[in-house]
Amino acid sequence: MGKNPPTFVGGAVVNSFQGMVDFGYLFEYIILQLTKEGFGTVWLGATFERKAFNDFLKEGEVIPAVSVVGYTADHKSLVETFTRMGVKANRRKPFSDLFFEKNISTPLNAERMLLNRFSKYLELVRLAPSGTNQQPWRVITHGNLVHFYLKRTPNYAKNLNWDIQAVDLGIAISHFEIGLKEDRIKYAIHLNSKAEVIPGLEYVTTFEVEL
Ligand SMILES: Cc1cc2nc3c(=O)[nH]c(=O)nc-3n(C[C@H](O)[C@H](O)[C@H](O)COP(=O)(O)O)c2cc1C
Repeated sequence: MGKNPPTFVGGAVVNSFQGMVDFGYLFEYIILQLTKEGFGTVWLGATFERKAFNDFLKEGEVIPAVSVVGYTADHKSLVETFTRMGVKANRRKPFSDLFFEKNISTPLNAERMLLNRFSKYLELVRLAPSGTNQQPWRVITHGNLVHFYLKRTPNYAKNLNWDIQAVDLGIAISHFEIGLKEDRIKYAIHLNSKAEVIPGLEYVTTFEVEL
């Protein structure tokens, strides 16, 4: 599999907020699986030729993103992959900008982070890819509940007619879930009416974790 012609993987989904969240969630699982198998992948949200796929779409559906799939030029070892993850950590917002405890006014600072039972899984969220690395995810942990919110980037991606930051939230949710699964922790994902209503943030979903 070479660079030319490139191989793509993509998917279509109903153009709604929940559709985009679901797409991000599922597509990130596919991407991570391909990565695990040794393929190089690149999320492409805006910059690919959509017209070629129009015939495949049903009414109301869009293709929020595709990924190029190929063998990387320099087959990376596992050690290199983890080293690259470390590099990514530097490109992310600090933990305390993204994650909170009990309410939005209590950031998970270094001290609280050490005591919070979800920190390990939130770190996987922090490493998640997002459109132009905006990292629009905000998470509040409250007891055994973990609430996910979207903080929109003002005036972002206005030229797109689907909600790319909702896709980012789906990706973040998959990263958190992968962490829980890895540790065989049981949970349910559902909308929770007790989630705080926060001006400027959009509530997305809640993990209720069995502790
Ligand atoms: C939904 C989505 C759409 C993206 N679209 C593009 C794109 O069109 N072009 C591109 O080069 N990268 C795209 N990316 C990749 C992001 O720019 C990248 O994940 C982010 O900058 C973080 O990069 P890093 O994980 O290497 O730090 C997209 C990522 C996501 C999640």
